[in-house]
Parts: sequence; structure tokens; C-alpha cells
Amino acid sequence: MTGLSDSFQRPINYLRISVTDRCNLRCMYCMPAEGVKLLSHQDVLTYEEIYTIARAAAELGISKVRITGGEPLVRLGLPELIWMLRGIDAIDDISLTTNGILLSRYASELKRAGLRRVNISLDTLRQDRFEFITGSDYPLSQVLQGIEASRSVSLSPVKLNMVVMAGINDDELASFAQKTIDEGWHVRFIELMPFRGVSTKSSQFVPVSQMRKRLEVLGKLEPCNPSIGNGPAKYFRFPKAKGTTGFITPVSEHFCFQCNRLRLTADGKLRPCLMADDEVDLKEPLRGGVSPLGLKRLIEEAVTSKPLRHGLREGRKPRAGTITQVGG
Ligand code: 5AD
Ligand code: SF4
Repeated sequence: MTGLSDSFQRPINYLRISVTDRCNLRCMYCMPAEGVKLLSHQDVLTYEEIYTIARAAAELGISKVRITGGEPLVRLGLPELIWMLRGIDAIDDISLTTNGILLSRYASELKRAGLRRVNISLDTLRQDRFEFITGSDYPLSQVLQGIEASRSVSLSPVKLNMVVMAGINDDELASFAQKTIDEGWHVRFIELMPFRGVSTKSSQFVPVSQMRKRLEVLGKLEPCNPSIGNGPAKYFRFPKAKGTTGFITPVSEHFCFQCNRLRLTADGKLRPCLMADDEVDLKEPLRGGVSPLGLKRLIEEAVTSKPLRHGLREGRKPRAGTITQVGG
């Protein structure tokens, strides 16, 4: 195995795979109110096709895979895909990002199939706000049960992602942080990213520097190492907390210089960067019978075109779709 690196010598070892563009929620920072045009069934990669791409990518140097969406658990038979990916020798870490709604139903099956850990999106601990933020009337308790189910089958560490929005949920920062102390939760606070067409506004943006200031009431945050993963979060711990407090700063402090990832969209486009619009189509070549070597060349092409950085802080908004379309 050679190991992949891009034109800026960044090692690329992490592939995020979106298995569907569909979602059972419509979070205000993610889904445009008018909805998004959904892919037709034939445009979505089959599990076999995803497996073929993942295997080629693994032979090139990808060792970590994260399953995303949309909401990945709305796609039928997801444990089966996990099972297939687990059979690829070079892949040593399979994780899942989910909104948690269906998690209590699938947690133990996913674990048995070979899933190692989950990240769960949760932006509030209040039912009324949950409905407002997610545009749905699911009970918040269903997500909380998903968290507990994941913990009980050791899909660990279970990480909770909270997108912090001024005037919407920023008054719950301390309640989430308190959970790292009382319940051992691993919480990550995320800066709101601007996507085109969604209802969030720039006035709702809270920089991580401000989040940290507001958390000072709970004690001093001591830096600590991430328990697992090498993502963009910086980790801390409150005194006596079993859980960690992480911060993700996609906007105020871009972490592109250490970006190690590629994204595969549900319709088979390999995107070198969440924010850039370039992509390399893999679906048509696959369906046209591309050779294993040809497939690898296409993956390398995407890696080579990975840009140095995005321009979010300069006010750039990605043109090509929101998280549901490109996979968070
Ligand atoms: N800003 C920040 N994070 C976002 N996510 C989705 N949309 C945004 C946004 N506009 C993150 C959420 C969710 C994951 C799938 O992507 O945290 O957990
Ligand atoms: Fe669905 Fe996640 Fe987007 Fe919310 S953020 S609408 S849960 S894909």
C-alpha cells in the first residue's frame, strides 16, 4: 500500500460515505424550507457499488470510514453495508453519524455488524425546541434512548454534536457541558456553517471563543487528547468530568491544513472538499464496467484536485448543496 496524499502533502486516509440524501428530520441549519430535490432510486449507489469503491480506496490508503447521509439509518439494511465494509482488511475504523431517531432500534445490530462508534446530532434537551430546530414532531426521548442504547452496546465513544445558534439554543451550552460531568457524555460544540437556502442567519453565528467564555461558569477547561479519531475538534475536560468537551470551528478557524478526508455522495460523486464544487463521478464509470485500476485512477484524480482551503470566513458559501446532499 502506498498511502494517499494530496497536492499539498496532506495524507488522505478518511472517507465519508453518504448512503442516502433522505432524512426523517429537517434541521433548520441543514434543510432548505422548500426541501431539496431528492435523488431517484436508480441514482443512488447500491451497497455493492459502495463496497467496490471503498475497497479501491482502501487499497490506495483509506483506513477510516464514516457512514453519513442524509440520515443513514433511513436506508434499509444498513447493518449489511457495515458488515461488507468490515470485511475490507485495510479499514480499521467504521463509524456512523446519525440524528439518533432510529438508533435504539438498530444499535445492537450495528454493533454486531462491526460498527465501532457513533456521533449523534443533538442540539437541544427541550422537546419544544427539538421540534422547532428539527422541523419535526418526533419525541426527543427517542434520541435520548438512542444514546443510551449505543452506550449500552459500547458503540463508543458516543459523541454528541450540538450546532450552537444564538437565540435558538445557545442558552443550553452549560446544560450540555454539565452532561459531560454528570453523565460522562462526550459533547462537541459546532459553529454554525452558512449553507445556501437554509433558514439560519449570520446573526445566529456564535464563535467558539464566545462559547468557551460562557462555559467558564462550570470551571476551567483543561486540554485533553481525543479519545479516538483524528477529526477537526479540539478537546477539553472540566475538572472531574468523565466526558470530554470538544469544539469544532469550521468558520472562525479553518482546519483545512490538516484535512485528511474525501466524501462520497449518495449518487457516487467523490468530492475532495465539503466546500468546493469539484467532484469526480464514479457511478457512471462503475456502471460502465471500469477496471479496478481505472477506478483507483479516478479516486486519485479527486485527491489531486483537493483544494488547499475553503473560504467560509471570507463569506464564501458552497454552491453545491447542503449537508444532506454531500454528506456531513
Ligand atoms: N453548520 C454546522 N454544522 C452542521 N451540520 C449540518 N449542517 C450544519 C451547519 N449548517 C452538522 C450537524 C450534524 C452533522 C450531520 O452535520 O452537527 O450533526
Ligand atoms: Fe437530517 Fe442531519 Fe440534516 Fe438534521 S442535520 S436534517 S438530521 S441530515
